[in-house]
Parts: sequence; C-alpha cells; structure tokens
Amino acid sequence: MRGLRLLACSYPLVGSTWAQTGMTKPISEACGPSLVCVNRYANVLPYHFYRNVTTMGNISSFSDTRVANGSMLEEVKLADFLVFDKQRGFEILGPNPSYEFMFTVSDAVHEAPVYVASQNKLYLSQLAPPPGYLPQLVVDLNLDPPTLTEYLSDPPVYAPNGGTFHNGKIVWGASGGNRSIGGSEQRVSLRTLDPKTNKSVTLINNYFGYYFNTIDDLAVHPSTGDIWFTDPQYSWFNGLTDTAPQLPSASYRYNVSSGAIFVIDDSIGQPNGIAFNPEGSIVYMTDTAAVNAPIDPKFGHPGSTFNTTQRRTVYAFDVSEDGTSAYNKRPVYMASGFVPDGLKVAANGYIVAGVGRGVDILDPSGQLILTIQTNYTVQNFAWTGPELKTLWLMGNGGISKVEWALAGQELK
Ligand SMILES: *[C@@H]1O[C@H](CO)[C@@H](O)[C@H](O)[C@H]1NC(C)=O
Ligand SMILES: *[C@@H]1O[C@H](CO)[C@@H](O)[C@H](O)[C@H]1NC(C)=O
Ligand SMILES: *[C@@H]1O[C@H](CO)[C@@H](O)[C@H](O)[C@H]1NC(C)=O
Ligand SMILES: *[C@@H]1O[C@H](CO)[C@@H](O)[C@H](O)[C@H]1NC(C)=O
Ligand SMILES: *[C@@H]1O[C@H](CO)[C@@H](O)[C@H](O)[C@H]1NC(C)=O
Ligand SMILES: *[C@@H]1O[C@H](CO)[C@@H](O)[C@H](O)[C@H]1NC(C)=O
Ligand SMILES: *[C@@H]1O[C@H](CO)[C@@H](O)[C@H](O)[C@H]1NC(C)=O
Ligand SMILES: *[C@@H]1O[C@H](CO)[C@@H](O)[C@H](O)[C@H]1NC(C)=O
Repeated sequence: MRGLRLLACSYPLVGSTWAQTGMTKPISEACGPSLVCVNRYANVLPYHFYRNVTTMGNISSFSDTRVANGSMLEEVKLADFLVFDKQRGFEILGPNPSYEFMFTVSDAVHEAPVYVASQNKLYLSQLAPPPGYLPQLVVDLNLDPPTLTEYLSDPPVYAPNGGTFHNGKIVWGASGGNRSIGGSEQRVSLRTLDPKTNKSVTLINNYFGYYFNTIDDLAVHPSTGDIWFTDPQYSWFNGLTDTAPQLPSASYRYNVSSGAIFVIDDSIGQPNGIAFNPEGSIVYMTDTAAVNAPIDPKFGHPGSTFNTTQRRTVYAFDVSEDGTSAYNKRPVYMASGFVPDGLKVAANGYIVAGVGRGVDILDPSGQLILTIQTNYTVQNFAWTGPELKTLWLMGNGGISKVEWALAGQELK
C-alpha cells in the first residue's frame, strides 16, 4: 500500500492517461479479394477493447471484438478468409481461392460428410430436429450447379454424426438410440453403407451390453484399418437417445477382424472430432466439454449450454508403432469462439477444425495459419473433387464450399 502511494506521489500523471504502447498497427489489412491479413495475431489491441463471450444463441468470433471505444473490426468481419500467417496462408489458399454459400438448410446439425469419389457425390447427415428423422442428404457434384437431395439407406440409419470412407464403404458413427424409430429399434452404433447398393450393416452396437452414449466421430487408422471413435454424451442432452449415458465419456478403437473394442482415452470431457495425420503416427482429438449439461434422468433431456471457462481444446496423442494405443497427450490448440467440433487433417499434415462460425487451419504445432469465416455454425467438412482441393463445409442452416490449394487426405 505504502509503495503504491509513493509511486503515485513520485510520478504524477501528465494529463489523465498513459499513452498506450506496442499497439498492433494496422490490426488488419486487405490482402486480396475477400482476404484480410491480421497482423501479429492482433496481439496488442487499442484500449478499450472487449469481446462478448459465446452463448449457444450467439457464437462469438474474433471479428466481434470492439476496439478503441466501440469501433468494430468491420474489415475482419466481412472477409471470407482471415490470414494470420502470410507465407503459409497464401500457399494453402493458392492463386484463386473462393468461398461460396451453396445451400440453405434447416437449423439442425449437419454432420458426417463423406465424399464418395467413384460417384462424385458427397453424403452428409441431418440430426434432429425433427426427432426420428431418418434420411441422410446427398450433394450430387456431377451436376452444375450441384443438387441436394434426401437419401435413405436400406435399412435406414438414425442420426449418423461422424463418417469416413474405407474399403469401398461409408463408415458411419450412428449417434442415436430408441426402441422405435421408424418402427424398429436402433442403438448408437458403427454402421457401414455400401454406396453401390445402398445397403447398411451394423458393425457394433454395444459395449458388453451397454449402449454407447453418442458415437460422434470416427477415423480409420491408415495402416491397421482399425476404426477409432469418440463417444461423448450429447445424444442424451439433445434427446437423440432414450437412455441416459451408461458409460463414461471415452474414445475407443475397434479391431474389425477380431471384433474387439479397446478404450484409447477416457481423460477427455466430451471427446468429439478425431483424425489421424497421414502417417498414422499422431491422432488428434477434440474436447468440446465447454458445451455440456448435467446428466440426471429425472430431468430428461436438458439441451446443452456453452460455458466459456470449460475446455474447447484440440489434443494430439502419439500413436504407438503397432497402432494399438495413444499416449503423450498434449494440447495443441484452444479454439477462441466455440468448441472445435469437426476435425480433419490435410494431406500435408495441417489440422483443420470447425470452430463455430468458421474453420481454423493450424500447422501440426497448433499455430493458426488461416480462418475461413462463415455466417452459420460449421459442424464438419470434407474434401471433394479429383484433386481433393475443394472443401465442403456444413452446419446449422448452411452448406458452403471453398476452392483452395490445401488438399485433403485420400480415403481408401
Ligand atoms: C455484448 O452483447 C450485448 C448483448 O447482446 C450487446 O448489447 C453488446 O453490444 C455486446 N458487446 C459487444 C462488444 O459486442
Ligand atoms: C451477438 O453478438 C454480437 C457481438 O457481440 C452482437 O453485436 C449482437 O447484438 C449479438 N446478437 C444477439 C442476438 O444478441
Ligand atoms: C476512449 O474514451 C475515453 C473517454 O471517453 C477517452 O478519454 C479516450 O481517449 C478514448 N480512447 C480512444 C482510443 O478512443
Ligand atoms: C423415440 O423416437 C421417436 C421418433 O421416432 C419419438 O417420437 C419418441 O419420443 C422417442 N422415444 C423416446 C423414449 O425418446
Ligand atoms: C441407391 O439410392 C439412390 C438414391 O436414392 C438411387 O438413385 C439408386 O438407384 C439406389 N441404388 C440401388 C442399387 O438401389
Ligand atoms: C486385430 O486383430 C487381429 C486378429 O486378432 C490381429 O491379428 C491384429 O494384430 C489386430 N490389430 C491390431 C492393430 O492390434
Ligand atoms: C462454468 O464452469 C465453471 C467451472 O469452470 C463453473 O464454476 C461455473 O459455475 C460454470 N458456469 C455455468 C454457467 O454453468
Ligand atoms: C449466409 O449467407 C448466404 C448468402 O451469402 C445467405 O443466403 C444466408 O441466408 C446467410 N445465412 C445466415 C444464417 O445468415
């Protein structure tokens, strides 16, 4: 206390304010059509600045920050692409990047995008509402402009939430369960869909008799062919299953040839996106625990809320040489505005994550290189096209696409 008073006496303020030091100038600058470069990660903003925290109804992004007593980052808000690392950002954008809003869709979650190259079609899912909705959606990329139609497999699959392509088939993580959906029982499960015949087959639907909670997302390990999947608790919160969680949140590995299921991690609050680097030596998983709810069957399905002090982190793990376990968990990225939902790794090893109103592109150390900004909440995305250089994004209310130079991994 005495020290403070002394300081105030010895150094009287000139006027009434200290001059602000170190400000990032300019914060941003146009650097191409609908491209804005953010300098030095906007590390020193002019006072007074403030950014509202996210709520489920209003997901905040960096461009919502108000600086210098109320001015908005207009330029940042309007750009389709925000470049944070110029050299690598321009490399992955290529000479002629574009962002295009393609389809208005319902406000439901849109997920599980899987590109079937042999058909040049993109399969995706729509979760409730309405509850019990059974068809998936297909974007036919052979037509110009592409069309969006409903698609029903045989038998129908309820609520795929994650998907990939392997051995000629779509592999779905079906996230819902109920005694009677369209007249028959379905449980949270791994399914395959043969896009040639439209036939679906169940691979697993229980863990020693217990229902999985919400198989959310999955990835096939490139050398072992095992299916790794996350199992958070959202289906109970969102009323997609009739049974409260019977298992802790965890992530698993399914060995297709033996049928055995192994837990690979049970430390993540709400494990969500999962993806391998091209070598299969690293697995990334996201923790979306910031979107959460209490579990108490007495109170039914509570929906979920966003808590800004809870985790919204992308983690990396090393994968053991034999592909059986994940170890050395470390955080690589904390999403600022919302939880990192969909997660995929590009052919060059860059991490791509859906983070609310956009998609962030990170290098393997987690450095943000580029953000794609959207006017709707993105759940997931998939690469399409002969060179896998088109990225289709989908979420609540929208489907859009990006043309750029960052290729996806070929799924075989
Ligand atoms: C924060 O949100 C409130 C309520 O929606 C709004 O009135 C206010 O302008 C917002 N502040 C900023 C900095 O966006
Ligand atoms: C959402 O947040 C933005 C930025 O903080 C604010 O300008 C806007 O008014 C908010 N919208 C609603 C519906 O609260
Ligand atoms: C912010 O507002 C205060 C009080 O109105 C003023 O003294 C100050 O100069 C303003 N700062 C900027 C950066 O506009
Ligand atoms: C099961 O799903 C149907 C919609 O197909 C829904 O009407 C019903 O309420 C669900 N039952 C439970 C117990 O959640
Ligand atoms: C599979 O479904 C699609 C879309 O509904 C349909 O065009 C196609 O003929 C079906 N294929 C078979 C083999 O039934
Ligand atoms: C999967 O199971 C098969 C059959 O038991 C076994 O040969 C193979 O090594 C297992 N794969 C892994 C990655 O453990
Ligand atoms: C958010 O989480 C913190 C713990 O990090 C907890 O103390 C707080 O009560 C939570 N807020 C809400 C609104 O649930
Ligand atoms: C997003 O933008 C597209 C076109 O730019 C528009 O059609 C769509 O309605 C917008 N969606 C929202 C939720 O604002």
